[in-house]
Amino acid sequence: MSDTPTPSDGASEFRRLWNQLAPVGRLSNGGYRRFSWTPEHARLRSWFVEQAELRDLKVETDANGNMFATWGTGDDKAVLTGSHFDSVPGGGAYDGPLGIVSAFLAIDRLREEGFTPSRPITVADFVEEEGGRFGVPCLGSRLSTGAVAPDKARSLTDADGTTYAEALTAAGFDPDALGQAPQPAQRFERFVELHVEQGKSLVYGDRAVGVASAIWPHGRWRFDFTGEGDHAGTTHLTDRRDPMLTFAFTVLAARKAAAQEQALATVGRVAVDPGATNAIAAHVSAWLDARAPDEETLGRILSRLDDQARQRAVKDGTEVAITCESQSAVVNFDHRLRDRISELLGDAPILPTGAGHDAGVLSTELPTAMLFVRNPSGVSHAPAEGATDEDCGTGVQALATVLKEFTR
Ligand code: GLV
Ligand code: MN
Ligand code: MN
Repeated sequence: MSDTPTPSDGASEFRRLWNQLAPVGRLSNGGYRRFSWTPEHARLRSWFVEQAELRDLKVETDANGNMFATWGTGDDKAVLTGSHFDSVPGGGAYDGPLGIVSAFLAIDRLREEGFTPSRPITVADFVEEEGGRFGVPCLGSRLSTGAVAPDKARSLTDADGTTYAEALTAAGFDPDALGQAPQPAQRFERFVELHVEQGKSLVYGDRAVGVASAIWPHGRWRFDFTGEGDHAGTTHLTDRRDPMLTFAFTVLAARKAAAQEQALATVGRVAVDPGATNAIAAHVSAWLDARAPDEETLGRILSRLDDQARQRAVKDGTEVAITCESQSAVVNFDHRLRDRISELLGDAPILPTGAGHDAGVLSTELPTAMLFVRNPSGVSHAPAEGATDEDCGTGVQALATVLKEFTR
């Protein structure tokens, strides 16, 4: 299939289904808050079940909370597609849900063509992909591969102190059963995740759809800076033990280290205790997201930051503790699968990405690939993230083409 314009009914078909999800979790600025195991998440998951039932797909939820809707029966391993519903706080609409909506529509297309798959096709919703609520990204897929231990998952907490175990219980799951699901490689033959592009390569290349080559290694580290709370108006500068200073220094040091290493480092989340305008902070927690072209570089950035933050803490009379909350190795998507898909889609461009995905997690277990759909702004994890209905229609057709090829 070449990147020729999709008939506009592809665009309107997409829009019709997309509009059903659009109000769920939408904020007044057009962004989204769709945290795992919240009422918004429950609405999205009910919609998933409804759509599956409308299509006579078999719905299963595994012990990790991941949902699967399967077309076709038999003992053959299924071709897996789909993505995730959850968002970062204030994120865009497309990161995740685009892959699920496109999967249902791709099945519709194949049925309209009268196609019968030779092996089942399964649409997935993987839970807590963003780690927006509980901090560890791709939690549902990592639990399923064993990359995260159930004990660790159960004890993760959200910003209000609710544990993952408590959130699961409230949603009707048994937290003690976490991890007790079949390994993905036992059920699935390959995984193709369609996703909005998080960058502008397809805009510059003037193509609607691309194929992923690799994901940079990345991780999340929590920095806890401890000092001493005191009065902002009565404490002499030289008597202070202000963790905000160590924190501010560390943010700048991270940025500098990333620039020197041609990597990326971001501190996008911070919590200050007590958080009063007229009090010196007692404690600052900050979360660093760092990504680099290779693992050595990432390791170098972290060890440099560790040294620099500790040296600065001595100067400020504070203490610093650094905890790795998650780390993801480099992912090189299956070359043969990637090249085959690119060829099928009329030499679709092959692009690397800095973003993490469930497809990256599953790539350690089975052949995985990703399709990217053009994002005019290039922005992601923010309200400006998007894709035109026309391009989404083209994405659906591309996914249908790929699913058909692998289930002939
Ligand atoms: C997920 O989108 C991530 O890259 O953090
Ligand atoms: Mn994301
Ligand atoms: Mn995503």
